[in-house]
Amino acid sequence: MAVKALEEGNVVAIPTETVYGLAGNAFSEAAVEKIYSLKQRPFYNPLIVHIKAADFLAKVARDVPDAAIKLANEFWPGPLTLVLKKQKLIPDIVTSGKDTVAVRMPNHPLTLKLLEQLDFPLAAPSANPFGSISPTSASHVHNYFKEELEVILDGGECERGIESTIIGFEEDQPVVYRLGSLSIEDIEDRIGNVFTKTRDDSSPVAPGMLSRHYAPTTETHLAENIGEFIQLHSGKKIGLLLFQHQVDDIPQEHQVVLSKSGNLKEAAKNLYAAMHLLDSLNLDIIIAEKFPDVGLGKTINDKLQRAAKK
Ligand code: TXA
Ligand code: MG
Repeated sequence: MAVKALEEGNVVAIPTETVYGLAGNAFSEAAVEKIYSLKQRPFYNPLIVHIKAADFLAKVARDVPDAAIKLANEFWPGPLTLVLKKQKLIPDIVTSGKDTVAVRMPNHPLTLKLLEQLDFPLAAPSANPFGSISPTSASHVHNYFKEELEVILDGGECERGIESTIIGFEEDQPVVYRLGSLSIEDIEDRIGNVFTKTRDDSSPVAPGMLSRHYAPTTETHLAENIGEFIQLHSGKKIGLLLFQHQVDDIPQEHQVVLSKSGNLKEAAKNLYAAMHLLDSLNLDIIIAEKFPDVGLGKTINDKLQRAAKK
């Protein structure tokens, strides 16, 4: 069903190891237009092209730097997106008129199998309305789009739970544009130091860079000291997003612990589902605990900061 829908130029929600995507034929302007309109995404915000194998890279990108090939070999299939010079075959609507294209090979068995059956790559942003929390399960996607979206390929809960890390190249040197499920430490272990450039409101290279993003509708705060914040907001209906431990004095059902054992990978996987849940409880305010600023903790803090931004 998904293959047929995509061949007919329609949009299908696909599972990936990071988050669910809203996919369409990356070579078809009409299909890609449907993605933007469903997502209510501004056209200045380009999409990621998902390919079935690293061999396919030459079809979508050109003049690929050696460092990019090395990264692709190390991390694909996986949560790494590379921003490269684009091939003509990629319509301008996919790249918002830029001469670069964002590409990744996702690591999810259903989606890899789907890509195998198609003779085009899939352009896909995260499957949420623009600016809201990314979906990490088929039901999150369904709750957002209901009958507006006919086909959702259900691949279970996303294993990583946070978007891919985006790397571009400036004078052939890798530059991180968006923190994601692949930690900077993992990247630096393989290719040495990389530069990070993830916040620029005036002209975002990657609009995941816009400082307010991934936002719950409930007012959200990021706190170094949870206790102080709770006192400050006493009398309100408070929800808590916590790393390892619950706190006293707040109803248990309003608290979500992301990893009892203190595992950052597990915390990252659970982050968006926790945000979806807390946002559905009609609370006055969500207070998120600041995470240790290492590895995926950096990525989690980055997403929480953007969720908390007014
Ligand atoms: O994990 C992911 O990356 C998920 C799954 C579905 O693959 N996709 C995802 O897509 O997060 P989206 O559209 O929500 O975020 C894509 C980001 C945007 O911030 C966009 O601006 C950036 O990629 N991007 C796309 N093309 C770009 C380009 N040519 N140059 C710089 N940034 C680009
Ligand atoms: Mg997104």
